[in-house]
Amino acid sequence: MELTDKEQRMLDGESGEAKQTAMEILAALGRIYGAKKMIPVSSAQVAGVSYKTIGDAGMEYLEHMAASGAKVSIPTFLNPAGMDIQQWKEMGIPAGFAVKQLRILDAYHKMGIMASYTCTPYLVGIRPGRGEHIAWAESSAIAFANSVLGARTNREGGPSALCAGICGVTPYYGLHLDENRVAKVKVKVEAKLKSDNDYGAMGYFIGEKAGNEYPAFSGIKPDETQLKLLGAAMAASGAVPLFYVKGVTPEYLVSKDAKEIVFSESDLKKTKERIDSGEKPDLVTLGCPHASIEEIKRIAEVVQKKKPTCGFWVCTARKTKEEAERRGYGKIIKENGGILVADTCMVVCPLEEMGFKITGANSGKAAKYLPSMCKQKVAFGDIEDILYR
Ligand code: F3S
Repeated sequence: MELTDKEQRMLDGESGEAKQTAMEILAALGRIYGAKKMIPVSSAQVAGVSYKTIGDAGMEYLEHMAASGAKVSIPTFLNPAGMDIQQWKEMGIPAGFAVKQLRILDAYHKMGIMASYTCTPYLVGIRPGRGEHIAWAESSAIAFANSVLGARTNREGGPSALCAGICGVTPYYGLHLDENRVAKVKVKVEAKLKSDNDYGAMGYFIGEKAGNEYPAFSGIKPDETQLKLLGAAMAASGAVPLFYVKGVTPEYLVSKDAKEIVFSESDLKKTKERIDSGEKPDLVTLGCPHASIEEIKRIAEVVQKKKPTCGFWVCTARKTKEEAERRGYGKIIKENGGILVADTCMVVCPLEEMGFKITGANSGKAAKYLPSMCKQKVAFGDIEDILYR
């Protein structure tokens, strides 16, 4: 693998021990995947922020990195943490968890990483352009950046994204190369998709079929929220890092011999029935991936017309929450039994330790992870359904 002088100096330890370790990891990854060189990246997004997902070992590793002087050299930001930093007590987060969570955040801050705590950085001003190389680690954000924005990122792990943030480069392989971005699966959508939740259900179904292939859809005209839900669900039930929608995404690269999957009305109905327990939820959680201001507006309109029959969270980025409070949506949500939750989400907070057993979600990704990561039964449906069971 060819390294520039600057990269070689990092590898030789001239820029300090932390940068040397980070460059060693990147160079090893490059060798494994056959990269010929490194490519500069404009931003890095680090996952592995919640104490629930990384535990004591992850916390101690990050504290060691911070103590050894590791510092990021490009804009680098964080995925959701395990709690809302400002209202974790109101959320019912156990104090022991909060103490460990704050140690993790402190280690990240010492490394100069932005306290964004969101899986939708593209909704709060970090929106890479078409062809821009980045190193992101949140699976739903990767799918969105590659597909909807036309940026280029592999599915980074938390540590490799952190190394990219420290060194400002990533190995040039996989989805950074145009020739590797060709879809080999076409999806003909015959089902009539009526709601955001229908896109989540379709993503759940197609992700299982596609695995780590790149599906190319035709016959749909999703808006940005629906693209977000579709990509997130496929990245969770499968490992889809890139998808295309004919006439919607900036690129549509499909192999001539791509195999075809049909998504029918019956597939939609059966998928929704399979995911939904049919039970009344203890808590409804919306905003997976983190809600946009438009989604929050819509939720506020729905609950203002009719008060939900259970409590609910709307998970979002802090910046979006502040905007929602300014516009009065936060007040409406609170008056109708909900909370605008920032910095975290239903999956990476310790929901199972907070007494909840049945959780409602309109997102395919949340529906996939709530049973395995939070020991929850799932009530899956449109917001007009799950908020009023
Ligand atoms: Fe984001 Fe949590 Fe869903 S990180 S994509 S809201 S599982």
